[in-house]
Amino acid sequence: MPIRIAVVHGSVRPTSAGAAVADWVAAQSSLVDGVEAEVLRLTDFNLPFFAEELPPAIAMPQNPAGVAWNEKLGSYDAVIFVTPEYDHSIPGSLKNAIDYLVPSVLESKATGVVGYSYQLGLRAIEHLRQVLGSFNSFVVGPHVALHVATDWTDGEFTPAAFREGEVPAMVRAIVAATN
Ligand SMILES: Cc1cc2nc3c(=O)[nH]c(=O)nc-3n(C[C@H](O)[C@H](O)[C@H](O)COP(=O)(O)O)c2cc1C
Repeated sequence: MPIRIAVVHGSVRPTSAGAAVADWVAAQSSLVDGVEAEVLRLTDFNLPFFAEELPPAIAMPQNPAGVAWNEKLGSYDAVIFVTPEYDHSIPGSLKNAIDYLVPSVLESKATGVVGYSYQLGLRAIEHLRQVLGSFNSFVVGPHVALHVATDWTDGEFTPAAFREGEVPAMVRAIVAATN
């Protein structure tokens, strides 16, 4: 059975620089033996601001969009989050989507993080590690940190040659941590 990885794209901007990153991450992930990766775009889930009566740790959200998001993400064996850095952290759209998750969706699953910004997305990557820690998710050590100036050319995502191998290395760590 292949290990199925969801690649979650965290920006919902219509002109998101990260849409192409998510596609690249999924394609690079699928190069690893025994892995199937698919992109999940938050724009396809239309999640309103989390405003449920009960926390997801107590009850599945009632909002149908929240249920669909939980069911879809929960169907994967592992998750890679692709996040820009907004104001030294992850975008509110991604935090809101994570706030909707019931614990079992990420609990005991391996996760990986890809960040990008004018400062390599490193603060977003590290904040996301903290957030994912609340789920008892195992965030693997290797991450991918892309620079909007050097990994894009005239607005097109053109990862530097030395990036080759970075996503597979992260994915191999995810595979090793997945039962
Ligand atoms: C609201 C907002 C806040 C941002 N804050 C930062 C920041 O703190 N550090 C940084 O390096 N880039 C920052 N940027 C630049 C983004 O990282 C860059 O524009 C990136 O392409 C945004 O990702 P997206 O196009 O996928 O939405 C910010 C961009 C936005 C829209």
